[in-house]
Amino acid sequence: MGIKTARAFGGLMPFTTMGTKHFVFGRTMEDLDADYEYKIEQFLYLRPQLSVLTSKNTTFSLSYCRNLMASFYLASFCMMLLIKFSVTFASGNVVSNKLEKTCIDGVTIALSFGLYLNSCPEAEAIIFSWVESAVSQDPRMAASLLRLHFHDCFVNGCDASVLLDDTPSFSGEKTAGPNLNSLRGFEVIDNIKADLEYACPQTVSCADILSIAARDSVVLSGGLGWQVQMGRKDSLTASKTAANNNIPGPNSNVATLVTNFQNLGLSLQDMVTLSGAHTIGKARCATFSSRLNNNNAGVSNSEMNLDFLQSLQQLCSANNNTTLANLDDMTPSTFDNHYYVNLLSGKGLLVSDQVLATGDDDNTREIVQNYVDDPSMFLEDFKNSMLKMGSLPPPTGTNGEIRVNCRVIN
Ligand code: HEM
Repeated sequence: MGIKTARAFGGLMPFTTMGTKHFVFGRTMEDLDADYEYKIEQFLYLRPQLSVLTSKNTTFSLSYCRNLMASFYLASFCMMLLIKFSVTFASGNVVSNKLEKTCIDGVTIALSFGLYLNSCPEAEAIIFSWVESAVSQDPRMAASLLRLHFHDCFVNGCDASVLLDDTPSFSGEKTAGPNLNSLRGFEVIDNIKADLEYACPQTVSCADILSIAARDSVVLSGGLGWQVQMGRKDSLTASKTAANNNIPGPNSNVATLVTNFQNLGLSLQDMVTLSGAHTIGKARCATFSSRLNNNNAGVSNSEMNLDFLQSLQQLCSANNNTTLANLDDMTPSTFDNHYYVNLLSGKGLLVSDQVLATGDDDNTREIVQNYVDDPSMFLEDFKNSMLKMGSLPPPTGTNGEIRVNCRVIN
């Protein structure tokens, strides 16, 4: 085994039961189909061998099982497989251009080239490993990380402005109405950033971390992966005002939602599709309590399923606005189309959810119906809309940097 390879396997050593830190084998997602089939175009830790031995179109597919990642013994098994494969490739005995191994309930991880392939080849592996670890400890974290990316991108583009801490002389976005006591996941991003700064200083932006972590969160919840575009810069400032203005409120009607999205160049369809992120995660009673008493604050609950209404009234009866309800009552942690199924039966949690199916807009209703009829259409569209949202640029002329610490500018 060459020095580089040995170092590569050395990089896998934290992948033990020692702590929260374990490396996955590096990957970028490219979905092949809806049942978690991903192809590995590049195996980052074995890049020295693979780049020599593989032809341009050769695909190595290695299944990776998330359930294995916490297990030292099974991790060792995977390492042995990798060694075996690298030896096979190194000796020129490549018999197949597609290699698939399924580890238990097989989540297949895709590896491909990206912006950081040369400058920080471990970047995506490090990010995935922290996200995977955080989600295994707290399943809701997948939703929280996904939302973090949304709240970043909707405020002057995807530039990690949402991550900046307030200081005595600076008021950032964390205390804006939609974010305060609501956004989560900052510590996960801190951990990722610290690891990346150790592996490749000032190379991977916090905004790219948010985008990759959002993708990984979707994948870990059962959604499709996609290849994340990278190269975002981190902002030098933040805007609490824009956070308050741009991020739609939970009692918004369709017209307001459409306007909010269109102001940023996202379509009505993007709005309905991205709202499907509410297939995972939770909301505080405070965000929907106005629905629980009919026409309180002008918000009607006439479209609400009666059983659902009563269960929420009970849940929130303690007058504790921080009590949490699942955004998708049917499959709260799985990234699927049940959010839309719920809407058709009057079980949308937020007003802004329910109006997509029972509001006054035929277009949103039709898209909801399409996603109910065709679950894979939703998964595919979601991927595309996330790519659009993830590429929202900061205003022209804004300078950026690669922050060392995501909470402060350099
Ligand atoms: C369409 C307009 C949207 C509105 C009005 C809205 C509103 C909300 C509200 C009020 C919450 C609950 C927050 C809390 O209780 O603290 C929430 C949660 C969430 N939102 Fe949205 N949202 C919208 C769009 C989106 C989009 C586009 C995404 C992502 C692509 C997203 C992802 C999430 C996720 C995953 C959660 C759960 C977070 C967690 O459990 O920590 N939302 N949203």
